Amino acid sequence: MVQLTLPKNSTVRKGKTWPKPEGATNLRTFRIYRWDPDTGENPRVDTYFVDLDSCGPMILDALIKIKNEIDPTLTFRRSCREGICGSCAMNIDGVNTLACTRGMDEIKGDVKIYPLPHMPVVKDLVPDLTHFYAQHASVMPWLETQSNTPAKEWRQSIEDRKKLDGLYECIMCASCSTACPSYWWNGDKYLGPAALLHSYRWIIDSRDEATGERLDALEDPFKLYRCHTIMNCTKTCPKGLNPAKAIASIKKMMVERSV
Ligand code: SF4
Ligand code: FES
Repeated sequence: MVQLTLPKNSTVRKGKTWPKPEGATNLRTFRIYRWDPDTGENPRVDTYFVDLDSCGPMILDALIKIKNEIDPTLTFRRSCREGICGSCAMNIDGVNTLACTRGMDEIKGDVKIYPLPHMPVVKDLVPDLTHFYAQHASVMPWLETQSNTPAKEWRQSIEDRKKLDGLYECIMCASCSTACPSYWWNGDKYLGPAALLHSYRWIIDSRDEATGERLDALEDPFKLYRCHTIMNCTKTCPKGLNPAKAIASIKKMMVERSV
């Protein structure tokens, strides 16, 4: 039986309610997780009011407005503002997603924002992704070849190239892995949906010459087989990808090569 004991300082206390912007009539309430480890204080949830008449339509627009106009200490990651860099992934209204592609009109009531779940937090909405990136690197996310390098390029048929669709688009936002209960409990040994999707992307690349080694590396009770097809990964992926299907395809290849 699993026993869950919360550490003494795990209580999230009620935070500060920031003043409403003067003269605003079209307000939206945001409740945002705040934690600065340097203060030694418990995490808290602060309440902010954003004037929608002078704000863009996306959650990231509101976060930037809060940081620029209300509370410059609010900390979060963002870069591209168009769903490409993956840096603004966070838990919004109970769902792991990208702040820059989630519209405020998609959420009813107060907007509740937390960092991606079950990851160490650096500060506020910024998770520590060091281990996540190390797992990605461990699947050798690059073309492995022994043949002589061709004079121009590694060619691929149109059909083989199509096999990479639904895989190469992954932006490594970590929404899927941090939505996965198996990853929550065994993230130190289970690679998680994002790294496994990337692994499969190279396993089925017709130009890659390390398929056997890649599959050998996944023959492990934890790295691959801790996926129990819960499907949270596929449900939450903000790019509409299907990591669960990629994992199932690797498992199928494992069976096929053993018979
Ligand atoms: S599969 Fe989707 S949710 Fe997972 S890291 Fe890639 S883009 Fe993000
Ligand atoms: S800011 Fe780049 S994905 Fe959101």
